[in-house]
Amino acid sequence: MGIEQQGGPKTAAAKVAPAKGKLGVMVVGLGAVATTFIAGVEAVRRGLAKPIGSLTQMGTIRLGKRTDNNSPLIKDFAPIADLNDLVFTGWDIFEDNVYESAAHAKVLDKDLIQELKPFLETIKPMPAVFDQYYVKRLNGTHVKKGKNKKDLADQVRADIQAFRKTVDRVVMIWCASTEIFLEPTPVHDTIEAFEKGLESNDISIAPSQIYAYAALSEGVPFANGAPNLTVDIPALIDLSKKNNAPICGKDFKTGQTFMKTVLAPAFKARLLGVSGWYSTNILGNRDGEVLDDPESFKTKEESKLGSLEYIFQPELYPDLYKDIFHKVRINYYPPRGDNKEGWDNIDIFGWLGYPMQIKVDFLCRDSILAAPIALDLVLFLDLAQRSQDLRSIGIQEWLSFYLKSPQTREGLYPEHDLFIQSMKLKNTLRHIMGADLITHLGLEYYD
Ligand SMILES: NC(=O)c1ccc[n+]([C@@H]2O[C@H](COP(=O)([O-])OP(=O)(O)OC[C@H]3O[C@@H](n4cnc5c(N)ncnc54)[C@H](O)[C@@H]3O)[C@@H](O)[C@H]2O)c1
Repeated sequence: MGIEQQGGPKTAAAKVAPAKGKLGVMVVGLGAVATTFIAGVEAVRRGLAKPIGSLTQMGTIRLGKRTDNNSPLIKDFAPIADLNDLVFTGWDIFEDNVYESAAHAKVLDKDLIQELKPFLETIKPMPAVFDQYYVKRLNGTHVKKGKNKKDLADQVRADIQAFRKTVDRVVMIWCASTEIFLEPTPVHDTIEAFEKGLESNDISIAPSQIYAYAALSEGVPFANGAPNLTVDIPALIDLSKKNNAPICGKDFKTGQTFMKTVLAPAFKARLLGVSGWYSTNILGNRDGEVLDDPESFKTKEESKLGSLEYIFQPELYPDLYKDIFHKVRINYYPPRGDNKEGWDNIDIFGWLGYPMQIKVDFLCRDSILAAPIALDLVLFLDLAQRSQDLRSIGIQEWLSFYLKSPQTREGLYPEHDLFIQSMKLKNTLRHIMGADLITHLGLEYYD
């Protein structure tokens, strides 16, 4: 349906190019999340299920006044690629095709996977860039060989170039395992230093950064579903801007952190104090096994801890939040598979300091929550690349909504509050489409 019919602005078409042709989706890591994402898209395309949890597919956006009664679907308002135009490929350190990997992950029902088998088994992973130093609990054989990291990056670039010949646009998303905790070093400072580091096999350059470098060098937007450092470095931020290849933050915000970024803003809005927040999880899939390694867990822990500090702003509210004891644990517990259980014990205090407790027990399905996020990030990064306003700015802060660790320009604190993030996302869509922003002031109704 046309933009104008939906109440959108007349100038919109000029500011965001249409989503013509096929969108190629290159997925790094074809494990539980990736196969649930790909199989899910195919199931939706065939009308077998609904894309629940996906804002791009089911979300609406209000335009104009509340009395205008104009809330089109987001996908009818902004030119988002159609699901029928998505084409998938990817890399993994194991040779299993997407059908075999989905069966192994045991997230989706056998019957559904069986029905989709002819499609799923056509997606076979290309050999991966992998080094066990960065993911201790994995050891794969379907791996590229090269004389140095630059050579490996060139091989990934060649994969992208070959795939690009078959589609019209390309986006890359990291759905692979969590790497060990890395901090930025001088090799990450500039594109030149980074390229020298690729030549000299610098240990601070992880495989995820080799994929990201290859993507951004090819002008391909890159999303990161894991908490790895990856594009959170000046060299790759510069490359993203230089080549009009948008990037966003990291680590899908799915279960426990999603709940945290809903509950914490509520306590803060009502000025309720918090003295402790203890979070623990049991998880039995391969992700849980990888996170059982202390070095990979450290990367996840940093990502999970960040949100409360920013939401509570203890420097502004020392009486309420200065002394929070915040702890996050993840325990590998195979019997549950992908069905994670996350418990939170929250010690809060109210009027005159009287203590209270809240317990949350979230029996969630990890990949079922992550798949629609992967879909939306891919579609919105592609949209960003076609938007005159967004394509050359690098970091897409408006996509923080989906991520445990939002990325921001240096010196800018990240927004973690889910409702601020949601407003920011929708206002960004209104902005790029030339529609009026919504401030929720609403005095005009009482004139
Ligand atoms: N499911 C969630 O709710 C959720 C939330 C936030 C983040 N994540 C992150 O998403 C990622 C994927 O999770 P998952 O449950 O699908 O894990 P998974 O272990 O099932 O899948 C990861 C896949 O990546 C592959 N892989 C590892 N290193 C690779 C490399 N260098 N190149 C190519 N392939 C590689 C593995 O072989 C595996 O098939 C993890 O990092 C996880 O922490 C998941």
